[in-house]
Amino acid sequence: MKKTLAVTVAMLSLSMFATPGFCDTKKGEKINAQHEFEEHCAVCHPKGGNIMKPDKTLSKKSMAGHGIKSEKDIVAKMRNPGPGMNKFDAKTVSDKEAAAIAGYILKTFP
Ligand code: HEC
Repeated sequence: MKKTLAVTVAMLSLSMFATPGFCDTKKGEKINAQHEFEEHCAVCHPKGGNIMKPDKTLSKKSMAGHGIKSEKDIVAKMRNPGPGMNKFDAKTVSDKEAAAIAGYILKTFP
């Protein structure tokens, strides 16, 4: 009986860690920008494309055509996206993670 309880508690705490955010960067941990991108953005932007709006990809050229030129502009888009895109507030993606993702996009998709 005691053992069952211990197992239940162990499983419960495990599932708490497995809820959304479990993949999020913990304090002091290095941010893996590619990993963050794949976790949050790649569903709709595989390889920097855009499955919903093919004319709004993450390529430098496309973004520049829409006034997005710097890391800051990309972060602004995440905080305040256009129609069809998820909103990523600071709870979902911290400022540090957002900047890392933006930097990754700028250097990865020409
Ligand atoms: C649910 C699908 C979805 C997800 C997830 C998503 N996006 Fe988007 N994204 C879109 C759509 C749709 C647009 C076009 C919105 C518009 O018309 O303004 C877009 C547009 C953009 C643009 C502007 C591209 C351009 O050429 O103007 C940027 C930058 C961008 N997304 C970055 C991101 C980042 C960074 C993430 C992850 C943190 C992300 N998106 C996650 C759907 C998504």
